[in-house]
This record gives sequence, C-alpha cells and structure tokens, in this order.
Amino acid sequence: MTNHEFPAGSERAAPCAGLRIGDLAPDFSARSTTGDVRLSDYRGRWLVLVSHPADFTPVCTTEFVALARAAEEFERRDCALMALSVDSLFSHFAWLRMIRDRFGIEVRFPIIEDPTLVIARAYGMVAPQDSDSATVRATFFIDPEGVIRAMSCYPANVGRSTQEMIRTLDALQAVDEGTGLAPANWEPGESLLRHPRATLEDVFAADGQADWFLQHAEQESSR
Ligand code: BEZ
Repeated sequence: MTNHEFPAGSERAAPCAGLRIGDLAPDFSARSTTGDVRLSDYRGRWLVLVSHPADFTPVCTTEFVALARAAEEFERRDCALMALSVDSLFSHFAWLRMIRDRFGIEVRFPIIEDPTLVIARAYGMVAPQDSDSATVRATFFIDPEGVIRAMSCYPANVGRSTQEMIRTLDALQAVDEGTGLAPANWEPGESLLRHPRATLEDVFAADGQADWFLQHAEQESSR
C-alpha cells in the first residue's frame, strides 16, 4: 500500500496548529465511553489526551490495546488517559467490545465522541481546510494545572509508542520535581542535566571545555 492510498489529508494535516506548549488546554465537556467528562475536572493530576483517526482500523486498534495494557503504568504516575475521535459513542462501544473479545483487554479510560469536530478543531487535531474529518494521531501531555507541557503528532499510518509516552511523562514529572533538564533518551533513575551556566565568570571557571553548558546534575553536587 502506498501513502497515496491513505485518506486524503492524513499526511498533510497540521495538528496542534493553534496550540503551543505552555498554553492552557482548552476546556470541553463531552460524552464518552465512561460517561460525561469535562477536561477541567482532571485538574490536580496529569492527563494524556490522544486523538485517533477512526475506530475499527488496524493501527488504532493496536494503539488502544497497547494503551489499555499500559493503563496501570499511567495510573502509577497519577496520570489519566483520555481518547477522542469523530466516531459515535456507539461505534466506540462496539470497538471496545471487539477489542475485549479479540485481545482480552478492557479499555477502561474514556473515549470521547466528537462528531462535530468542535474539540478536534480547538486542539488542531484536524486541519481546518481538510474535507476529511478524521483526526490525526495527536497526543497532548497536560499537567495538573491544565497546561499543555508536550505534544506530538503522528500520521494515520504510523502508530505511537506507549513506552515513549510514559518516558515523556516520566521526564516531565522529573524536571518538575528538580531543577534539571532531561537529556536525550533519559530514563527514570538516570541523572538530569543542570541548566547551563549564565555568566562569563562561570564559563571561565568551569573545568572542562563543555562543563559550563553540559553537565549532569550529580556532577554539580560533587564539586
Ligand atoms: C489505522 O488505524 O490503521 C488507520 C486509520 C486511518 C487511516 C489509515 C489507517
């Protein structure tokens, strides 16, 4: 199958278009598979909000099986999961029933129906000019104050990594707890980086050539 066979716009869509890291996540109320939900009711804990193109599609099904299997990992990090697509609530129900029967896992986090695209448009999950109403694979990491802290967008033909979602969440929580920065491929238990030095005196006083801008936090405390 070539890219051209995927729904028109699924590669061109400009997700997260209006929103930036640091913005307050737009509030909404909606019907979901677990009842009515309101985004602002999640204040006080982390939330990962994901959109998917459509129920009963292969990649989406693997993503939801993976998310449901990882649900306890998110819970342990005090992070709720919430999903959204344009499909109806009854489509979501039928899909979750199929997932349970076929894969032996129950998706217990809410999946929102957004038939009018009002939420998807507010979050830039569909491109405004697109005739195709399917949402892209957008992921928003929303902190306990309701602020968007990270976001990503994948095309319809590539599934997301649940492990990377959890790693991102771990990194966001770790940098909030301390004053460090999470380096590439950081994993829990590894040291964070310290913020680069701010004055020329600091720069000249640093031992190594790169020490003034690239140093693990534990190196600082041992100096
Ligand atoms: C999928 O989840 O497999 C999928 C969804 C929309 C378009 C193409 C693939």
